[in-house]
Amino acid sequence: MNLVVLGATGSIGSQTLEIARRRGHRVLAVSAWHGGDRLWRVVDEFRAEAYAFKEGDDRPGVGRRIDGDDALRELALWPGADAVVVAVNGFDGLTPMLAALAAGRRVAAATKESIIAGGDLLRGAVARGLLLPVDSEHAAAFQLLQRRRAEEVRRLIITTSGGALRDWPLERLPLAQPQDALRHPNWNMGQLVTINSATLMNKGIEVLEAHVLFGLPLDAIDVWIHPTQMVHALLETRDGALYASLARPDMMLPIEQALMHPDLPVDALRPLEPEDLRELTFRRPDPLRYPSLRLCREVGTIGGTTPAVLCAANEVAVSAFLAGTLPFTEIVPVVESVLDAHAPAANPDLGALHASDRWARATAENVLRRRAGR
Ligand SMILES: NC(=O)c1ccc[n+]([C@@H]2O[C@H](COP(=O)([O-])OP(=O)(O)OC[C@H]3O[C@@H](n4cnc5c(N)ncnc54)[C@H](OP(=O)(O)O)[C@@H]3O)[C@@H](O)[C@H]2O)c1
Repeated sequence: MNLVVLGATGSIGSQTLEIARRRGHRVLAVSAWHGGDRLWRVVDEFRAEAYAFKEGDDRPGVGRRIDGDDALRELALWPGADAVVVAVNGFDGLTPMLAALAAGRRVAAATKESIIAGGDLLRGAVARGLLLPVDSEHAAAFQLLQRRRAEEVRRLIITTSGGALRDWPLERLPLAQPQDALRHPNWNMGQLVTINSATLMNKGIEVLEAHVLFGLPLDAIDVWIHPTQMVHALLETRDGALYASLARPDMMLPIEQALMHPDLPVDALRPLEPEDLRELTFRRPDPLRYPSLRLCREVGTIGGTTPAVLCAANEVAVSAFLAGTLPFTEIVPVVESVLDAHAPAANPDLGALHASDRWARATAENVLRRRAGR
């Protein structure tokens, strides 16, 4: 199989490359944010034909650098690719996803911010290509939903560990430092998604992601805390049955499932044994601890440009938290301030989404400056 891997130096990107090594896939083109040794090692190892990066200097050697604003789109259309893995952060995944889908390609999509920002556009593009989720809960839900008719499905439950600060007393949360919030109990992921797991913004975004990918109403998508994250998704059908999808928390499975669908990969990971299932506990998330869940549902109800604004503002707020200039408990209020100032537009095209993304980043910076001046 011939792959394009966007975000090849990141957590999902590196695991995709591990699968490529294991299965003998070719990697034709790759991207990263930074040019540098991590990217050059990938380009050299896989003898990639093309690569792109945003910051840093090029170097002579294997492959051709694709430059400019359209670079990810060009890589997504690279000749000969069977699948495009989109694993960059944020909004920059949307253009390559749309381009690859329009060209009839398979897209293994990890970049959930791009999926929710471009929901309506993606729904239109999916008619030509194949959009497959690379998120453990959505990959599990996707399997559970196979051969189910929409009217048979009553509820989808996606699970969360509750994040690194799940068991902290509420009054201590404002004191949480980046190293506390980055200590995820089950997954080793990039910094943004790990902080989003601690605020549960990640899960709120995933509710919207399931809404886009599976066309389920927002109130039919539920979130429960399940600390061991062996159960990734539960599907309630109209007969009253509840179907579960269980696997070890390991992204190799969803990545390989997305690359192989409708076939199943062989031995993508070590299966669970019944004795591994001793701690199947679930509880509802506390809305006081996790205000992001309410905010994401409100955003989903409004739709239009608001999901793009949510993600962009959140990225800026998380960066400020990681830089030590914003308390953990202020991340969601900063995002909410930006959303309050936003005049949503319905049915946005790509240009309107880009403009909303830029506006939200600038507005979030203003909110942070005002806050710092208080
Ligand atoms: N990690 C997981 O287990 C997991 C699970 C489900 C979904 N996801 C989603 O997958 C996406 C990637 O997550 P991750 O954990 O792999 O992130 P990560 O470790 O931070 O890696 C992100 C990758 O994309 C590159 N990149 C970042 N921003 C970019 C941009 N704007 N344009 C182009 N390249 C960019 C980075 O390059 P540099 O290395 O040069 O910075 C890196 O290669 C996120 O949307 C996340 O929510 C992740």
